[in-house]
Amino acid sequence: MKKRVLATRDNLPGHGLDRLSAAADVVAWSGTDKPGRADLAALAAGVSGVLALGNDPVDGALMDAAGPSLRVVALASMGFDNVDRAAAAERGIAVTHTPGVLAETTADLTFALILAARRRLASASASLGAGAWDVFRMHDYLGLDVHGATLGLIGYGQIGRAVARRAQGFGMRVLHHDPYASHTSGDTLSTPVSLAGLLAESDIVSLHVPLTDDTRHLISARELDAMKPTATLVSTARGGVVDEEALLKAVRERRLHSAGLDVYEREPMGGELSPLVAQPHIVTLPHIGSATESTRAAMVDLAVDNILDVLADRPARTPIPGGER
Ligand code: DGY
Repeated sequence: MKKRVLATRDNLPGHGLDRLSAAADVVAWSGTDKPGRADLAALAAGVSGVLALGNDPVDGALMDAAGPSLRVVALASMGFDNVDRAAAAERGIAVTHTPGVLAETTADLTFALILAARRRLASASASLGAGAWDVFRMHDYLGLDVHGATLGLIGYGQIGRAVARRAQGFGMRVLHHDPYASHTSGDTLSTPVSLAGLLAESDIVSLHVPLTDDTRHLISARELDAMKPTATLVSTARGGVVDEEALLKAVRERRLHSAGLDVYEREPMGGELSPLVAQPHIVTLPHIGSATESTRAAMVDLAVDNILDVLADRPARTPIPGGER
């Protein structure tokens, strides 16, 4: 008999869901909105696996709604802060994510944000669109150079290293600080430094750490004050890593040149826009770091592979740290 698997969406990029449906009875959320806790719990009874996105709430209540049959929660995302890891561990449930397949795509977007924030691309384009480009003036739309700048990477895993590779083409000096020292070995692209050294020396600080208890508000008023007033902060990590109020204040008061953000403390925003969105020196995108057709399909495929492996009693391919069972 086929095992039941809950998918938190009935429509995902690529053919992963078809492969899953060939091997399991898939029950999927088919609403147009993001499913809430109760929506998922109502579908979960008796499932052996859950295929979820990086912002779906996967907590002990959902695991209990599934019952003892649940063996694996597979995220089609790199981030895993939406999963109650302790609850999964207590119940012997494997938790997996999708490292590797999205690093290059997310690094591309990181560079897009760096360029957009330093060169003020969004305001320049908006001003053109508003018909305000009436005469060429030498002082209009002046930004700051990216080539030759010092780039500080906080977090030096796959995405951080992919950004460091791109930075070589821009002749940048690259520094990194990673709380997990094992990520730093055998690499000449970048120099390891203390967090204080990185903040003081970098023209651009880019965040590539997961959101955990240790990294929540890693960048707050003190760290922003330690950055150069000409610096740019870029984040494609998770909103909670930055204290957004402190960031907004620093940019408004011109104590920080600019920011490029793909992630927020509150997502999605709907019509209730964060004040960050209206700030002319902050470039904002709606969490699209991994959003290319092939990468999103690869993420779903890897999540499906993880489910099929665990349900066939094979080890999961890409468990989250400590998520193997
Ligand atoms: C990720 O993979 O973590 C992206 O942010 C999408 O959730």
